[in-house]
Amino acid sequence: MSHRDLLAWSAMIGAYAIRGMYGEVLALAVRMVVEGVLPDRFLITRILQACAYAEDLELGRLLHSMAVRRGFMGRVKDVPVGNSVLVMYVKCGNLVCARKVFDKMVCRDLGTWNSMIFGYCRSAEWEEARCLLDAMRQEGTEPGVVTWNTLISSYARSGDLDVAMELLGQMEESGVAPDVVTWTSLVSGFVHMDRGDEALQCFIQMCLAGVEPNGMSIASAISACASLKLLNLGRELHSRAIKVCSVNNVLSGNSLVDMYAKCGEIVAAWRIFNEIPDKDIFSWNSMIAGYAQAGYCGKAYNLFCKMENCGVRRNAITWNTMISGYIRNGDDERAFELFQIMESYGVKRDTASWNILIAGSVHNGYYDRALRIFHQMRSHLVRPDYITILSIIPAFANLVASWKVREIHACIFHHNLEMDGKIANALINAYSKSGDLASACTVFDMHSSRSVISWNCIILAHLLHGSPNEALDLFCQMKQEGVLPDHTTLAAVIKAYGLMGKVSEGSRTFLNMANDYNITPDLDHHAAMVDLLGRSGRLKEAYELIDEMPLIPNSTVWEAFLTAAVKHGNVRLAHLAAVELSVIEPGDPRVQRLATTLQDLTGKSIDVPKAMVHNKGRKLDEVESCSTEIRNKLYVFSNGDNVGLEHTLAELNSVPDFSIGTLDVEEEKEEVVGVHCEKLAIAFGLTNSPHFKNIRIIKNERMCNHCHTFAKLVSKKYERRILIKDPKCLHKFEDGKCSCEDYW
Ligand SMILES: *[C@@H]1O[C@H](CO)[C@@H](O)[C@H](O)[C@H]1NC(C)=O
Ligand SMILES: [Zn+2]
Repeated sequence: MSHRDLLAWSAMIGAYAIRGMYGEVLALAVRMVVEGVLPDRFLITRILQACAYAEDLELGRLLHSMAVRRGFMGRVKDVPVGNSVLVMYVKCGNLVCARKVFDKMVCRDLGTWNSMIFGYCRSAEWEEARCLLDAMRQEGTEPGVVTWNTLISSYARSGDLDVAMELLGQMEESGVAPDVVTWTSLVSGFVHMDRGDEALQCFIQMCLAGVEPNGMSIASAISACASLKLLNLGRELHSRAIKVCSVNNVLSGNSLVDMYAKCGEIVAAWRIFNEIPDKDIFSWNSMIAGYAQAGYCGKAYNLFCKMENCGVRRNAITWNTMISGYIRNGDDERAFELFQIMESYGVKRDTASWNILIAGSVHNGYYDRALRIFHQMRSHLVRPDYITILSIIPAFANLVASWKVREIHACIFHHNLEMDGKIANALINAYSKSGDLASACTVFDMHSSRSVISWNCIILAHLLHGSPNEALDLFCQMKQEGVLPDHTTLAAVIKAYGLMGKVSEGSRTFLNMANDYNITPDLDHHAAMVDLLGRSGRLKEAYELIDEMPLIPNSTVWEAFLTAAVKHGNVRLAHLAAVELSVIEPGDPRVQRLATTLQDLTGKSIDVPKAMVHNKGRKLDEVESCSTEIRNKLYVFSNGDNVGLEHTLAELNSVPDFSIGTLDVEEEKEEVVGVHCEKLAIAFGLTNSPHFKNIRIIKNERMCNHCHTFAKLVSKKYERRILIKDPKCLHKFEDGKCSCEDYW
């Protein structure tokens, strides 16, 4: 064309704009102005829209000033021009200019308000966005469904779902019906925050409101089923997804794979996985996780190898999934190997990778290794997070780790990690088990939002340390603060009464608990009652309680009874308990030993499975052993290990021995097995650690009477505090007495 007028330019630019070719639109617009043709109100709106999509702020500004100069911004009919300038600034991320335009507009329509609110939502200026919502209503513009959706979906996406729900309420109140966009953003918001329950509630509400769910909302609901492991509902949603034809897209496919995998339906997961046309990283990761969780590490590993050939790069999550699969299935070696090589494959290890190794090691009982990894992690300058701390704390929950608990406590402060209920409770537990009741109390006192679990932790801590009085005081305090006790609390309370010899109070708690707290007594409460009756010598009542209880007593109950019988020298009842125990736990070496001794004493024979009677076949880790830590080094002793300690032992053994009137049946006699390991550990601790330090020993089997007396005497003669933790009790020996009051 030799002569191009405004009409020609408008047609050309319009054609490009409709096809979404914004770059071309802008290029044409520039050429048009260079050739001396200026846009009218309609064309300038078009070009501004293109600027917004192309996020071309520079050109947008020029157009804005052109619009002002040509007088397109001041009149009521100019609202569309003003809106497009506003949208241009919003899309280009320049909120300040957008707001200036907004404030100058003589007249605003719903679109104006929506765009401005969208701008504030997108840059997370919630306050401002909600102010505008109020302002628009005051100026007489009722928010429409787009307005509400803008606000609700951005709150939902940012994880602030409570506000999103509040807005939903306001929306319904103002008479605007939520549409599929509203509901979907809520459902997927809840799923992202791991609040599957509420996600499903929203989904159901949406269906009840007659809004047809789309593929996206169904996929989100399926993800909620995955995290809640609701297989049946998941299946139902699967068939719904088929109805709306959204199964074969990768989004629904992934959520289905994830759901079936998490629910353990590995074959179904595999079938869906195979049918996803363009599998992405999420598809592969879900499938690998599914196989790994189900214990098929080999299959998981095959996929792990195959995915790169299928053009999907493995990311840190893929590696972590594989590592955690191996470690969970006991193949630590492969796990560590993958951990070592992942960086050479160009995938950076993240905090989660370290956490998996730490949690796996703790879970498999390798505390020292967990600790080494934790130190390595810190020396690699990887910042520990909430999960790291929660995973590592259980590794410290023992007597030889008190300073390490303090270290982790410091680490929480150092990294500014949130001290929430879970961490506080884990710390209380760890301090208590490491023998530091005072610090456990400090953590408890500083912790503001105390749940029933926190109260249980601190009450149990006092029981462990032989302070039933304080435990009961805490129980009262807890009730005063309006926290309802649960079954753990009540078992602890009964135990506390038992420790104090308050039989009637304990029994009353036991008998009234169903009434007072609506908690039916379970095995733990019965065991606590047996313990309470047994301690005060009421063996007959204890036996009647067991005989009449509506549950089948497990070994905890019989153990309590056995202890009572032995402590009170009742051979007949001890025999009876041993018989029961040998049925429940035929492999327990202590029960075997008891069985043999009691057999001799009563002349009766106990029918213990033959192969189990002799403890020749005992595994190495069942050998009785003690560990103690001196100057950061861990020493482990087992019975008869007295190399180098003969001299000290001879000296210690000169403390006068005395017999107490209990049934001396449980221990393996020193004549047979050699000097007991706790004696060795005490001797070693005495000679190798400074006088002001407590001797702390962990024993893997119950302490015997003889050594208990020995420890008491040593604590008096040498003026040392000795702490020994056995599986039943924490003994604190001081000045010739033990905190357990000789009953354990
Ligand atoms: C006995 O049952 C109680 C209550 O279920 C449980 O807490 C306890 O661990 C059981 N004891 C053993 C040895 O399994
Ligand atoms: Zn004791």
